[in-house]
Amino acid sequence: MSHSLGIIGYDYVEFYVGSAKMWAYWHAKALGMKVKGYLGPESGVKDTASYYLEKNDFRLIITSALKPSAFNITSFVTNHGDGVKRWSLKVKDVNTAFENSLENGAIPERSPQKIEDENGWVEEAAIKLYDDSEIVFINRENYNGLFKPGFGNPVQHISISCEETGLQAVDHIVGNVRTNEMNLWANYLNESLNFETFIDFGPGDISTKYSALLSKVVRSKEGAAVKNPINEPYEGIKKSQIEEYIDVYNGSGIQHIAISTPDIIKSIAAMRANGVEFLTVPDAYYDNLKERGLEVTEDIDELKKFGILCDTEGTGYLLQLFTKPISDRASFFYEIIQRRKGAEGFGQGNFQALFESIEKDQELRGTLDR
Ligand SMILES: [Fe+2]
Repeated sequence: MSHSLGIIGYDYVEFYVGSAKMWAYWHAKALGMKVKGYLGPESGVKDTASYYLEKNDFRLIITSALKPSAFNITSFVTNHGDGVKRWSLKVKDVNTAFENSLENGAIPERSPQKIEDENGWVEEAAIKLYDDSEIVFINRENYNGLFKPGFGNPVQHISISCEETGLQAVDHIVGNVRTNEMNLWANYLNESLNFETFIDFGPGDISTKYSALLSKVVRSKEGAAVKNPINEPYEGIKKSQIEEYIDVYNGSGIQHIAISTPDIIKSIAAMRANGVEFLTVPDAYYDNLKERGLEVTEDIDELKKFGILCDTEGTGYLLQLFTKPISDRASFFYEIIQRRKGAEGFGQGNFQALFESIEKDQELRGTLDR
C-alpha cells in the first residue's frame, strides 16, 4: 500500500539545452510564451544561465551551461542533446511527499531544500526518473516574488510579436524507454508516487505495417490529473520511432509534453503562423473522419485545413496535433490537445495515421531501416 504524497498537479518543466537564449526566443515566438525571469551572471550565478517562461499555467525553465564547470548540464547535453531534465509536481508539503515517495520505493536525487529571499520561501526535493531525468516535488505557496528565489527580471529585451496561441497548461508528459523497461518504470511511478495504471496498450494495439510500440499510461489518484504515458519499442519489420528516440537521445527520457488549449483551431492556426512545423497526415484521413460520422462541433474541413486530428471516445472526443521534433535530434516534440466532453484518452484512433507520418520522416532521416 503506497503512502499518499499530497500531489496538487504539474508545476514547471526544465530543459537543459545548448543555448538557453535561443530556446527562449523559440518558445516566445512559436508558442507565444513570455520570458518572465532570468538567472545568470548578472544575478550572481557564475556558470549557468536560466530563463523562466510562462504561458497561462504552462511554466518552463530553460537552462544552459556557461562553463565546463557546469558539468551536469554539459554532460546531459553532450549525451542527449537538448531535452527535458526534470518535470515537477506541486505538492502540499515537500518533506512529506519526499519521505513518503522514498518509503514507497522512489530513488532519491535531492533531499528537501528550502530557498528563501525577502519575498518568502520555496521548497524542492527530487527523485530519479529514467536514465538521466528527475521528478521534482515543489511548494511555492509561500513565495510572493518572481517564480522562485534567484530569478530576477530578464536583462535581455526579448520582445517578440507573434500570433496568440492560447496555450493553457501541461496535459500529460510522455517518456520513451527501452525494450522491457516500460513495466519497470510504470511500476516505479505507480508505487513511488501512489499512481495507478490507467490505460495499457499491448502488442497489436499500436502498430503500422512496419513498426510497433507498447504503451502504458499511469496517472495520479489525487489532485488534478497528472498523466504519464510510457512507451517502449515492440517488434516490427522496421525500426520504430521509439527505437529511433532511444538511439538519438542516447537512452531513455522524455519524448513529448502535451499542452492543453481551449480552442485548438485558434492555437494551431497561430502556431503555424508563428512558424511551427507539424506532422502531416494524408487527405484520406479526413475522408475517413467524415465517413465515420463523428459528432464533433468543429467543421471537419476546418480541421483538415489546419491538419488537426480528431478521435472519439465514449461520449467525448479529443482534438490533437504533434509538432515535428523541435531541436536537431529527432527526440523531443510538443503535442497540442483539446479535450471535449470529458474525453480522457490519448487519441488511439489517430496512432496509425500519425506513426505512418513519422515513418515518412524517419525514412528521410535514414532511421527507418535497421
Ligand atoms: Fe501525447
